[in-house]
Amino acid sequence: MCGIVGYVGGAEAVPILLSGLRRLEYRGYDSAGVAVLDGGRLATRKAVGRIANLERALSEEPLTGKAGISHTRWATHGGVTEANAHPHFDQSGKLALVHNGVIENHLALRAQLEAKGHIFHSQTDTEVLAHLVGAAFDAQDAESPEALVEAVRVALRQVTGTYGVAVIHANVPGTMVGARRGSPLVLGVGRDEHFLASDVSAIVAHTREVVYLNDHEIVALRGNGFDISTLAGTDATFQISRVEQGAEDADRGGYAHYMLKEIHEQPGATRDALRGRLSREEATAKLGGLNMTNAQLRDVERIVLCGCGTAFHAAMAGEYIIESLARLPVECEIASELRYRNLPMARGTLVFVISQSGETADTLAALRECRRKGHRVLGICNNVASTIARESDGGVYMHAGLEVGVAATKSFTSQLTVLTLLGLLLGRIHGLSCAEGMEILKALESLPDLVTKTLEQESRIAEIARKYAHARNFLFMGRQANYPIALEGALKLKEVSYIAASGHPSAELKHGVIALVSAETPSVCIAPRDAVFEKNLANIEEVRARGGPVIALGTEGDGDLAKVADDVISLPQAPEYLTPLLATIPLQLLAYHIAVTLGRDVDKPRNLAKSVTVE
Ligand code: F6R
Repeated sequence: MCGIVGYVGGAEAVPILLSGLRRLEYRGYDSAGVAVLDGGRLATRKAVGRIANLERALSEEPLTGKAGISHTRWATHGGVTEANAHPHFDQSGKLALVHNGVIENHLALRAQLEAKGHIFHSQTDTEVLAHLVGAAFDAQDAESPEALVEAVRVALRQVTGTYGVAVIHANVPGTMVGARRGSPLVLGVGRDEHFLASDVSAIVAHTREVVYLNDHEIVALRGNGFDISTLAGTDATFQISRVEQGAEDADRGGYAHYMLKEIHEQPGATRDALRGRLSREEATAKLGGLNMTNAQLRDVERIVLCGCGTAFHAAMAGEYIIESLARLPVECEIASELRYRNLPMARGTLVFVISQSGETADTLAALRECRRKGHRVLGICNNVASTIARESDGGVYMHAGLEVGVAATKSFTSQLTVLTLLGLLLGRIHGLSCAEGMEILKALESLPDLVTKTLEQESRIAEIARKYAHARNFLFMGRQANYPIALEGALKLKEVSYIAASGHPSAELKHGVIALVSAETPSVCIAPRDAVFEKNLANIEEVRARGGPVIALGTEGDGDLAKVADDVISLPQAPEYLTPLLATIPLQLLAYHIAVTLGRDVDKPRNLAKSVTVE
């Protein structure tokens, strides 16, 4: 996590750095800082908390200069303090460095440097790297841009772990050096100015010409040019790409929070995920980005779906959806587990990695591990041109649009939409008849309207939220494809309200969790009219028998459910493979309204970051 922005050119650096940092705040918001070079003078400002606090510090004590680096932090090593905020400095105080990633051998390196008399002012791994680069720079005779590049190279050869870094030195004005391994870094090419950032969104307002740096590459940027080389010291080949995405409008559009806006954007997001992907002529889905022919798809014998957090919940729901539509074995794996697991994967296994940001470190590592083993890995990403999208063998974009709220909402339902499309496509290859395909296709076409209809429940859900907002613990339950939705509902509530919540397969409650049921612990039960409705009803009775309040999600007009539940939220009539997506929406709204009732910071919950770029 953490976000980096650097600038070198003819304009004042601070406004450019701040506007870039604001775009990267999704990567962490524990603290922020800048260091700016004004001729040979290096000055810094830092603040704990949001970028707004740094802006305040800079308005009280402004900085000028035409080269600078900046950072927004998600704490890994060392608490959330000003001392631990980036940039960090070397022993001489003349070199400043910002870092995204983790230096794994920082303790050993710190001990070596301390033995040589280095004094550290923070508990971070990053400060160790700053000292290492500074020491390598000071050990050389020259104080040139080349010497700074060489110092970065020498230092990075000594570290293990991951990094995206940007470095400036008071004695090398007008130059900034960047390097990456495992953490994204993109170079922005402007006219007489250059940028460095963790993500194009930070610089796209200034330039659309970018170079995505590869791992083990080092770049030296000046106002009038740049050089890219490798950690080994050879020249690197690179390509300047044009970014099509604009500086997407990130305003709240009249909503109180981005999370609420994004929940309400789901009819449009599902429509965009479907757009141009349904073929009535062939009664199937068309997913050209998979880069696979129907004959190749026919040879797929097993699918692995992989992701983290909410994306993993989408994978779990996808397992049920694809298995039921395509009758293909599907397994889902948590990316952080898959990357270190020696999962037996037979020939014929097709891997999908699911990631809204396309930058999640564990998901990226899982992708690389599976590709290394020779498997074809496809991505289901939202962020176009993200690292995962670029490194996969193909895939399907979600087209959910910019998601700012830290709690994933519309990206999740877009993921489910894409997975249902995949189920239809594979189903039509593996056994669904034309008539069956057409029925699914028509149901998918009606999906955006069903989402709109589900959103009409909001005022009822807000009432329920106020009724239960002060509970200390919530249980969520569902069966089959609604079990992952129970997990997702619990995750949303935890994230934005900080209330303890857990999701369970409904029938599992009696194997232990039912001990938590009490008058103070509401249970949210997903029980649409499906093949397991009666079973769910029985589980609800078990909760009621123990005095637990029940909030039930059921199919509209369900009188049986109304008799057993304290509160009912209606879902529109829909085929079984679409109810998980529809059931998600009330749970998002429930979490949102509970968090608002409790006065939580909904869009930036404590301790979280939107994109998790460390393992
Ligand atoms: C939850 C949430 C996280 C992400 C997870 C994966 O609301 O946002 O659990 O789903 O960090 O992120 P991506 O999808 O960007 O790989």
